[in-house]
Amino acid sequence: MIPMLDLKLQYAMLKSEIDAAVADVLQSTTFIMGPNVKQFEIEAANYLGVKHAISCNSGTDALHLGLRACDIGMGDEVITTSFTYAATVEAICHTGATPVFVDIDPVTFNMTAETIDAAITSKTKAILPVHIFGQVSDMQTISQVASNYKLKIIEDCAQSFGARIGTQKTGTFGDAGCFSFFPSKNLGCYGDGGLFTTNSDEIAEQFMLLKLHGSKVRNQHEIIGWNSRLDEIQAAILRIKLRNIDDFNLNRIAVAKKYSQLLNSSTIQTPSFNEDLSHVFHQFTILSKTRNKISKKLASENIGHAIFYPMPLSEQPAFSSVSRSGNLSNTQEICSQCLSLPMFPEMSDEQIEQVVDSIKHL
Ligand SMILES: Cc1ncc(COP(=O)(O)O)c(C=O)c1O
Repeated sequence: MIPMLDLKLQYAMLKSEIDAAVADVLQSTTFIMGPNVKQFEIEAANYLGVKHAISCNSGTDALHLGLRACDIGMGDEVITTSFTYAATVEAICHTGATPVFVDIDPVTFNMTAETIDAAITSKTKAILPVHIFGQVSDMQTISQVASNYKLKIIEDCAQSFGARIGTQKTGTFGDAGCFSFFPSKNLGCYGDGGLFTTNSDEIAEQFMLLKLHGSKVRNQHEIIGWNSRLDEIQAAILRIKLRNIDDFNLNRIAVAKKYSQLLNSSTIQTPSFNEDLSHVFHQFTILSKTRNKISKKLASENIGHAIFYPMPLSEQPAFSSVSRSGNLSNTQEICSQCLSLPMFPEMSDEQIEQVVDSIKHL
């Protein structure tokens, strides 16, 4: 049996540090807005190379409140991808804005500057690129389009912690970045958690207000806000994991390279290794016309796998009538052929070989 993701191995490796850090928080009885949250925000900002890193309850909240902090609301259009998790689009809808879906590149699965450019109208206020599966979007060309039309960029970095172009990390290219620390993410905590990043003092201040009941000073509420906090236990765990994130990501890249080499001669399309756009392989996602056969074979051998995502969000009942889309033919084809294989930093060569042996000739 090979799981899709094995969190036990990482916990075993960091157990003594994590157990001690959690015990310290329990002893302190400071569970909310304590020293670990403060330190984690400083350490994350330093790691990412950004002025403000503000923690919150989830990636969904980082997106929703982040869009609001960037002044996105009713009547605005936000250009995004329909090949993403529902949270990306829910966040846009919760602000009152309209999601506008554009097609994706068949190799990177990310939106491109060309498709974005063609979808811009007088109502377009922002672009929301998703660095899907850990692959960085082409932020140079997307930033150029944003600058031509004076649009905001809010990056969905839920799957791309530590991914970079050169030395610049995701979450620092646009006006804001939104991260998720859901346990399965490449930087994950042991519950829910999220992070919002920005270099703008004004956007950071607005996000702080929104996440803390609209209040800067106790008992004074300037706007109607939300309650969205990362707790001390999760922050203590994330501080330990953050110190190891580069090793985790490098191991993921090594697993992906091995998969790609072994699957090389088959009819399966593997992710590209682009020298300029880096990939941290939150998922290792293949394309195959025989996807359903592959899925059945893996299931019969107890090998974990998942379909991210089986349907463009533009076709989901929740979003079909509240969004606008152009031609999404690449997205539709990718949804019908994609399959994600087991991927975690501690995967052994034997496990990778076993997965490949199972599917190579299908
Ligand atoms: C692309 C993407 N955006 C947003 C989210 C939402 O993050 P969270 O689950 O922390 O709310 C996720 C996580 O599932 C995601 O994969």
